[in-house]
Amino acid sequence: MNDLPSSHSVAPGGRRTLRLAADPAGIGAAAAILRDGGLVAFPTETVYGLGADATSGPAVAGIYEAKGRPRFNPLIVHVAELGAARAIGRFDRRALDLAKAFWPGPLTLVVPREAGCPVSDLALAGHDTVAIRVPAHPAALALLAAAGRPVCAPSANRSGHVSPTDAAHVAADLDGRIDAILDGGPCPVGVESTILLCVPGDLRILRPGGLDRAAIETVAGPIAAGVPEGTSPDRAIAPGMLASHYAPSSPVRLNARSVAPGEHLLAFGPTLPSNADAAALILNLSTAGDLTEAAANLFGHLRRLDAGPHVTIAVMPVPDQGLGEAINDRLARAAAERP
Ligand code: TXA
Ligand code: MG
Repeated sequence: MNDLPSSHSVAPGGRRTLRLAADPAGIGAAAAILRDGGLVAFPTETVYGLGADATSGPAVAGIYEAKGRPRFNPLIVHVAELGAARAIGRFDRRALDLAKAFWPGPLTLVVPREAGCPVSDLALAGHDTVAIRVPAHPAALALLAAAGRPVCAPSANRSGHVSPTDAAHVAADLDGRIDAILDGGPCPVGVESTILLCVPGDLRILRPGGLDRAAIETVAGPIAAGVPEGTSPDRAIAPGMLASHYAPSSPVRLNARSVAPGEHLLAFGPTLPSNADAAALILNLSTAGDLTEAAANLFGHLRRLDAGPHVTIAVMPVPDQGLGEAINDRLARAAAERP
């Protein structure tokens, strides 16, 4: 480990980014970097996160700088188990039931922050709530246990880009800007966690994601629909949920039932448009029409269709049930008008 960077002062573009295997040595090295205030991208079951010590303001500031986030959005705090979460957020009966049912897993709970919450104000961006999750990935859990502190982590991509679902995606966006990438292979779920506001008197999905609405309702009962009054539709109440996000550089055309010559086609299911031969490139999210497989392929396929010359990416309709809600949310953001 004598080649670890000796300083983690933030100098985007000027860092040497270590590649670490997700084995005990690599996880130990990654945990040491986190404890030292550095930035480590690590695998979770949803997407790769860009982690920093959540209790250190300077370390958290490094995340915003490396990602080029235009402003300070609150970050999700990752912990290894519910006990650690309860030192950070206040869990009522319903929040406890949800955590016990779905952690580790792709559910982020937004709960009131606990008095004495050790997370830096910068990570919370001034909110009196905190977003917490226990990721279901062995390397992430081992890293969190070894770091011995909460780790805040947004997706490990440059701001506005498509989220990374393998280590090569992370390197493409952040090589030279972060201290290390812990390579745990492809992420099995492929879309970010479901963010659920779970405060007394309000239960609401702020971002659809890897855990579907129906599963949550079996534990917590009916979830309020839509966003609270006074929230504009293009700016949901999870402050980072801008309308245009997860955006490839190429234009994206939704609900494509035919293909214009030369377009790239993001297909779904066994039956392609009758003129699919006109497409320059076709990638199928799931030829079997399986939404779980489609979620796992979504961001990787978008990146591949976006590589090379900028041609429109035509996207076939995806059913809006189950994980389809999260897939369609991300596709709508990919297609939205760019700022
Ligand atoms: O699957 C995931 O959730 C991944 C992996 C790495 O865990 N993380 C992720 O983080 O997607 P990020 O930063 O890309 O998205 C976090 C979202 C943002 O939209 C942010 O505004 C919202 O969570 N958020 C964080 N704290 C919040 C809070 N207290 N209230 C409302 N929204 C919050
Ligand atoms: Mg993100």
